[in-house]
Amino acid sequence: TQSQCRSSYDDYKETADWLLAQTKQRPKVAIICGSGLGGLADLLQDKRKFSYKDIPRFPTSTVQGHAGQLVFGTLQGRECVCMQGRFHFYEGYDINTVTYPVRVFFLIGVETLIVTNAAGGLNGTYNIGDIMLIKDHINMPGFAGQNPLCGHNDERFGVRFPCMSDAYDCELRALAKQTAVEQDCDSFLQEGVYCMLAGPTFETIAECKVLQTLGADAVGMSTVPEVVVARHCNLRVLGLSLITNKVVTDYDSKEKANHEEVLATTKHRTQDLQRLVSNLITKI
Ligand code: 6GU
Repeated sequence: TQSQCRSSYDDYKETADWLLAQTKQRPKVAIICGSGLGGLADLLQDKRKFSYKDIPRFPTSTVQGHAGQLVFGTLQGRECVCMQGRFHFYEGYDINTVTYPVRVFFLIGVETLIVTNAAGGLNGTYNIGDIMLIKDHINMPGFAGQNPLCGHNDERFGVRFPCMSDAYDCELRALAKQTAVEQDCDSFLQEGVYCMLAGPTFETIAECKVLQTLGADAVGMSTVPEVVVARHCNLRVLGLSLITNKVVTDYDSKEKANHEEVLATTKHRTQDLQRLVSNLITKI
């Protein structure tokens, strides 16, 4: 049952205390790297890496292309901790396991969470390779009862009924826009609404049309559970989606959503996204 899959405060605390004992670093910023975007963690200096399997109580990852390690280090002189490889609901993890690392970040003293992901473009004005600042989300699994905050509420993390209308920090978005102008990538910076679906199937044409009607600009299979748990414990959140492909909305189209195209685009724009995050982090 769901309650058996939930971790207690003591589990998160055990993980956090173990990490604090392993390193002197005390990052205020955590970064969750999306599919194909883990290269950011390689840029850190004075790296200290922990395989998920070696961290007490930490979930372990299964998917190829996900290194599955926590990397502490400095980016442009700022201490941060990166998740290289995240846990996806479609892999079969329950929704609380997906968000386990976020509460650990909170307990080690992190104040800001940066999340990146690969997403399909629903907004017709978006181009492949655009970077979308997430200004809001649609928690579709949440509509279906899969919200990581369901069940007993531990007040040490946050309130029973957390606000989500300010989930994506206004100031951080302004900083990201300013940074994009400075590094001359504002021509492909967008701002929009991210919709999470559970996956692992890509959307049907009819489903894409539904999502467009609902006001979603991009669709993906991650991020929202982590953001919900981060906002519950009052972390500031910045979300960035790399638009890796355009969804298919035409029955005559020969195009098909596929993972290879997603990975090819991330390869192409991963440098720009890395630069954006590392330049931005000095301003936080
Ligand atoms: Cl088109 N759909 C979903 N659900 N996730 C994606 C995607 C599309 N492209 C990258 N990730």
